[in-house]
Amino acid sequence: MTILVTGGAGFIGSNFILESLKNDDEKIINIDSLTYAGNLENLDSVYGSKNYEFIECDIADTKKVNSVLEKYKPNSVINFAAESHVDRSILGPEKFFQTNVIGTLKLLDAIKQFFINLDESDKKNFRFIHVSTDEVYGSLSTIEPAFTENNQFKPNSPYAASKASSDHIVRAYNHTYNIPCIITNCSNNYGPFQFPEKLIPLIIVNAIDLKPLPIYGKGDQIRDWLFVKDHCAAIKSVLKYGTVSNTYNIGGNCEMKNLDVVLTICNILDDMVPRKDGKKYDELIVYVKDRPGHDIRYAVDSSKIKKKLSWEPKVNFNDGLMETIKWYMSNNQWLANIKDGSYQDWITKNYSNRK
Ligand code: NAD
Ligand code: TYD
Repeated sequence: MTILVTGGAGFIGSNFILESLKNDDEKIINIDSLTYAGNLENLDSVYGSKNYEFIECDIADTKKVNSVLEKYKPNSVINFAAESHVDRSILGPEKFFQTNVIGTLKLLDAIKQFFINLDESDKKNFRFIHVSTDEVYGSLSTIEPAFTENNQFKPNSPYAASKASSDHIVRAYNHTYNIPCIITNCSNNYGPFQFPEKLIPLIIVNAIDLKPLPIYGKGDQIRDWLFVKDHCAAIKSVLKYGTVSNTYNIGGNCEMKNLDVVLTICNILDDMVPRKDGKKYDELIVYVKDRPGHDIRYAVDSSKIKKKLSWEPKVNFNDGLMETIKWYMSNNQWLANIKDGSYQDWITKNYSNRK
């Protein structure tokens, strides 16, 4: 079994590759264009392994992707590659539409050319898994039921709009060209190797450095947190047992207000590494200007994947956070290597807007 992974040098993709190579006798080909979010250091431990190959490649480069497909003849493709940060999409939307929309289209064109020439049984067994987000469904009030696969798409941010468009493209390529596609829409992931621009790693890293912990608005927005390894296991189940042309929602069954997430991190750090100045970590919290169009609440109803594929999240939030915090604390070099010019430039740009 050979799997072509796109965006495998990013947060979820690299976790998926590391988990797959640990558990299964599978060959993984990773194509990634190495944007600011792509970090080959995540995959140091599998570098040189006979079951792993990396090729620097943009998903929008149809010709190159097609040559990779022809060379390695994968049985499936899992598309993680994307621009993934909402705040970046607000400050510069175009790149999101280039990668998430045009990139997905061009990737599917390469797959279409490859797929046409497969024999009938390979065609039947081929899978294209598109990794998407719960943000395509828009925002919930605090009393509405969680998103199901049947919710209407109502994306609010440029990021969410670009992902929603990509989901539609996948659906159309499945329907029109019979490419066996499955879409997954997951909630907010957290865990090792997440770029420290997203809430959880940013708060951990800032707290360790005794820097301000920025909370947008009042911190009362709600997200549903999913440990990345649970997400990877869900994708594996979808790949093996999922039904073609279906969509599966994947949630962590863990809705929390942003402020409570930050306070939980602070409490864990108070126990794990008490501050030398005798203060508490939550004294570093600062309330900053809210995100424009900030979605109030995401919540995911995962009954379908639970019922049909017997998957459910196994890691509770406290255990997952402990593992994540310990990982960031023991990977100083990984952190130092990404806190380069481009990371610092982003932090300055994003947070100077919020004073
Ligand atoms: P990430 O930003 O950490 O990684 C994205 C990866 O894609 C990087 O390695 C980057 O170099 C690569 N990439 C970007 N543009 C590319 C291009 N044009 N060609 C090839 N590679 C390219 O993202 P992530 O958090 O790992 O998210 C993976 C997927 O999961 C994304 O599609 C995202 O929309 C989706 N998702 C993420 C979350 C989350 O909480 N992180 C939640 C829901 C859905
Ligand atoms: P984020 O991790 O960017 O994920 P998403 O926007 O895709 O849900 O943000 C999670 C929540 O945390 C979101 O409601 C915005 C908020 N947030 C802050 O309050 N402060 C921050 O510095 C960041 C990055 C996010």
